[in-house]
Amino acid sequence: MKIAVLPGDGIGPEVTREAVKVLEALDLPRLTLFDGDVGGIAYKRHGQPLPSETLTIAQSCDAVLFGAVGDPDCDKLERALRPEQAILGLRKHLDLFANLRPAKVFAGLEHLSPLKPEIAKTLDMMIVRELTGDVYFGDKGEKVANDGSQEGWDMMSYSETEVRRIAQVAFRTARAGDDKCRVCSVDKANVLETSQVWRDTVKDAAGSHPDIELSHMYVDNAAMQIISNPAQFGVILTGNLFGDILSDLASAAVGSIGLLPSASIGDRKTDHGVFGLYEPIHGSAPDIAGQCKANPMATILSVAMMLRYSFGRENEAARIEMAVEKALADGIRGGDLGGEHGCEEIGEAVRERL
Ligand code: NAD
Ligand code: IPM
Ligand code: MN
Repeated sequence: MKIAVLPGDGIGPEVTREAVKVLEALDLPRLTLFDGDVGGIAYKRHGQPLPSETLTIAQSCDAVLFGAVGDPDCDKLERALRPEQAILGLRKHLDLFANLRPAKVFAGLEHLSPLKPEIAKTLDMMIVRELTGDVYFGDKGEKVANDGSQEGWDMMSYSETEVRRIAQVAFRTARAGDDKCRVCSVDKANVLETSQVWRDTVKDAAGSHPDIELSHMYVDNAAMQIISNPAQFGVILTGNLFGDILSDLASAAVGSIGLLPSASIGDRKTDHGVFGLYEPIHGSAPDIAGQCKANPMATILSVAMMLRYSFGRENEAARIEMAVEKALADGIRGGDLGGEHGCEEIGEAVRERL
């Protein structure tokens, strides 16, 4: 089991440290960890947010555990040198086109959600976000507009090929869950050509999957429905930008962004699963970095996803998930959930309950 550990910036190192300790506590055979620099720290040490050595380490492993990148000191750098390019570059170079972001309110923990308990308890969805296309990776630039003012532009596009492969992931994911194969594809086809191609392609791809119950929704409505009627969603299939926004929204409905893990996968296989990059959906949280205030649960739950998807270790994955649930049920809470437990204490509480 070769795992690249890329902690990154801000709270990245704190939450990754706790997640690695949980992984090590499982006493798995032949576990080897390799460290690499990414983000602002990599820029400061090597002049690049994604040094080639880091990419080589990631490529040579079966899975990557990623913390977070982002540093306010770097926000004025030219875009290619900014910390965020590290995660975008890893996703692109490793062809990790599918991002799975589960959002679920654990039974008995409805009170962590700002939603009414009877609504919160029905929230259990998987956001399948396309990760290597969309406006994120199109041409972009700045020019002088006709009136002489500065204008920024970003090209948004999706090809049928890109949409078809992510749709297949969503259909497979729906089938693997126990939610009657519901897939809701979220787009903005009433306005965007990109979304029209998206919608037509998803419909066409679903044609050969009669067991999939496919629906379509505009993204503005989806944002509203996730909060008001989450029970209707099983799998949400959406593009890169909409998926980014909707997953932060879903995390707030669960209770905190410090609780949501993610898996980014592509087609490359490992001995017991697929190669993947695993990371919390949150960022480097510079406002609380270095104060032991970060909730490491999202990163710990990302390790569970890693064990499930890249190493076929369902038992250990479930042990981690149950330990996190138990810790929350026992009142272990970071500041994000209105509690006082520090990052290390939360990590230790999870390890004790494994
Ligand atoms: P953020 O997710 O870092 O933080 C948003 C808010 O949530 C902050 O108030 C923060 O304190 C809180 N928060 C986040 N994670 C938490 C945790 N584990 N425990 C407790 N509280 C937590 O988003 P932002 O402030 O918009 O971005 C900060 C930096 O992170 C930016 O540079 C951004 O580009 C970067 N970012 C990186 C990633 C990534 O590496 N994948 C993801 C999102 C944002
Ligand atoms: C995320 C982040 C990234 C994204 C940024 C840091 C590039 O917000 O992983 O959700 O937009 O994908
Ligand atoms: Mn995001």
